[in-house]
Amino acid sequence: MTYRREFLKFLAASPLLSEFSAFAQEVEETLGERLTDPSEVINVFEMEAIAREKIPPAHFGYLSTGVDDDLTLRANRAGFSRFQIRPRRLVDVSEPDISVNVLGTQASSPIFICPVGSQGAYHAEAELGTARAAAVKGHHMILSTQSSTAIERVAEAKGEPIWFQLYPTDRWEYTVAMLQRAEAAGCTAVCLTIDLPGGRNTETQSVMTRTDSRVCSSCHTGRAKPIFDGLDMRGVGLNNPALTWSVIGRMKEVTEMKVLIKGIEVGADAALAVQYGADGIVVSNHGGRATETGRGTIECLPEIVAAVNGRIPIIIDGGFRRGTDVYKALAMGASAVGIGRPYCWGLGAFGQAGVERVLDLLNRELLITMGGSGTPTIDSIGPDYVLDNGQRVMRGRLGRELL
Ligand code: GLV
Repeated sequence: MTYRREFLKFLAASPLLSEFSAFAQEVEETLGERLTDPSEVINVFEMEAIAREKIPPAHFGYLSTGVDDDLTLRANRAGFSRFQIRPRRLVDVSEPDISVNVLGTQASSPIFICPVGSQGAYHAEAELGTARAAAVKGHHMILSTQSSTAIERVAEAKGEPIWFQLYPTDRWEYTVAMLQRAEAAGCTAVCLTIDLPGGRNTETQSVMTRTDSRVCSSCHTGRAKPIFDGLDMRGVGLNNPALTWSVIGRMKEVTEMKVLIKGIEVGADAALAVQYGADGIVVSNHGGRATETGRGTIECLPEIVAAVNGRIPIIIDGGFRRGTDVYKALAMGASAVGIGRPYCWGLGAFGQAGVERVLDLLNRELLITMGGSGTPTIDSIGPDYVLDNGQRVMRGRLGRELL
């Protein structure tokens, strides 16, 4: 395919390259042709390589992009290498258990399916493929405002209550309408995304789109996403630059759902979220798609754990690709970890079966790390098991000690 060749040429000259593992680079040309069964895929980087062959470049560009020079995007991955695991030996790890309960939601794994919009751009099964995979594997799912599939259908496919990710819009009555619809669909919590008040500059996406020869109007019909059914979106912004912390109280006046704030990178903001009544926070830089030249989220976590001091649960996303990444965040005080791009690679590569494979791979790696570190349960993983460049990490009470 010509566009693929063009795309590979672009990649070779791109800073994005370092986001891909060297191994994925070596095998990417033919991997998708050779690996036709998801069970043959051995890590999420291979899944990425296969997805890159199958997803049209403009759509893969949307999934891959950071902002400006993609520095925050890369900081998310690089951040993990600053932390080391400090394993203990001769502990009975014969009956490992990775199940968690976060804000009343029981899940078989601390790896949450975090919101990614427009999944119809990656595979025809779209959010239904993701939800069915999450249901089969017992993973918790948070659905994007920008879902290509109606929230009621996704909730039904999942079978267990999902959470809803909210872009507040600049029209309060729209915010209320979306909250009511999510609650009626059975959602038990809402994650308000707060990290894009100033918009963003997704250059990698623009460059990749140029390599795509397809006609955009074949996918982009101009119709608003299903969550906006019945709402006139003309002139309405998805983000609200006037939003302040009082939004938490206002949301709580109109919904019974738990309210989480998604997009926290600093301890002081985490403390404000607690002060204003948030039920939880998501430490996130929007997968490197919000503020450029930030820290990796794993590097933000210690000051946030210290500020929250166990009062509310902390979920974190941003660059989680290995079981060891997940383990480090849990050890530093996260109650759960979110993934975004990896499951979309699975979806793009093989539909539901690919998402299931990604979840299996990450769970397996997490279990290996837990066994190898002398920590058979999630609760047994604490700050003693991780070092920050050889030093103890900043300590606070862990949110999950309260659950
Ligand atoms: C949506 O949340 C995006 O980052 O594109």
